[in-house]
Amino acid sequence: MTSALPASDAVDEHGYVPVISLAGAHDPQRREKVARYLGDALRRSGFYIVVDHDVPRYLFDRFYATALAFFRQPAAVKAAYGPVPGDLTRRGWTTRFRAAAGIGLETDEDAAEAWTMNPYDPTLGWRNLVDLQPGVRAGIVHPNRFPPTPGFRAVLPYFLAMESQILTLLALHATDLGLPIDYFARLCDQPLTNLAANYYPRQHQAPADDSSCLGPHTDLGIMTALMHSGQRGLQVIDQDHPDRWVPVPNVPGGIVVNAGDELVLVSGGRYRSAYHRVVCPDNEERVSVPVFMQPGPDRVITPACPPPLGESGYEPLDSWEFFTRRMGIMYEGAGH
Ligand SMILES: [Fe+2]
Repeated sequence: MTSALPASDAVDEHGYVPVISLAGAHDPQRREKVARYLGDALRRSGFYIVVDHDVPRYLFDRFYATALAFFRQPAAVKAAYGPVPGDLTRRGWTTRFRAAAGIGLETDEDAAEAWTMNPYDPTLGWRNLVDLQPGVRAGIVHPNRFPPTPGFRAVLPYFLAMESQILTLLALHATDLGLPIDYFARLCDQPLTNLAANYYPRQHQAPADDSSCLGPHTDLGIMTALMHSGQRGLQVIDQDHPDRWVPVPNVPGGIVVNAGDELVLVSGGRYRSAYHRVVCPDNEERVSVPVFMQPGPDRVITPACPPPLGESGYEPLDSWEFFTRRMGIMYEGAGH
C-alpha cells in the first residue's frame, strides 16, 4: 500500500460527497444552478449523489435480485459464463482481479467477483460495428455472457436507463464547463459503456486492517454512475484532507456519480477523479451495479478546456489504447 493513501481506519464523514436534487433541471431558470452544484462537486471531491433522477428504482431492484441469485451459485456453474478468448473487455464472470493495480498500487486480490457486459455485442444491434478497425473489432465485438438465471436480462433496461442518465448529467457538466450542451453527446457517440455487477461475498471475519474488498483505485472513463442499494461500504479519499477516507452517504435509490480519469482530461484538470474503495461490512453479502461510460473505441480524447493558469496541459489520449492498457493491468492473473 502506498503512503499516498490514508490509513485503512482513518474514516471521517462531513458532507464531502453532496446529495443534489435534479428536480427542475430541465427548467432553463434552474438548469444553470444545478449545473453549478454538480460541477462544484466534481471540482472538490469528484463524487456526488443525485436524487429526483430519471432511473426507476424497480429497474435496479429487479436486476439486483436476479444478480444475487446468479452469484450465490457454485463457482463451477458461474465459470461457464466467463470471458471468451480474445474479448479484451472481459465480458462475463470474473474473479481474482485487483482494481488498485490499474493505478499502480500493489494489493492482494480483491474479495469481489463481477459479471460485466457492454453494448459491442453483435446480437444486440446497439452499436455501429461495421466501421470499426479490424484490430479493435477483434477485441471488442463479442456476445455478452448472459447466464440462464431467470430474469437476468433485466440488466438491459437498467443499463439503458443509466446510460441515458449519464448523458443527461454530462449535458449539465457541459453547461458548467462552458461547452456546447451536446459536447459529450458527440464525444460519447457510440460509447463503450461498461456495466459491472460486483458481488462481495459474506465476510466471515473482519478484514485485516490494511485490506478492502475492492482496492483503492480511480475509474478510467468519463463518468461512473450506480444506483445506491442502501448497503454501506463505498469510501472516497478526502482530497482536502488526504489522510481520511469519507464514506459515501447512505441514500438508497439515489445515484452515486463520480468523474473518471478521462473527464479530468476533457475538463483540463478542473474536475477530480478521486481514489475510492469498498470496505465490506461484516457478515453481509453486497452487490453493486456501476455503469462506466467511455467514448467509443475510435475516439481520441482531447482537453476541451485550457489548463488552469500555471498548470501544464494534458496530452490527447487514444480511448481504446487507454482502456485496454488499464484493463490488462487490472486483470493480469485474474481467474476466468
Ligand atoms: Fe471504481
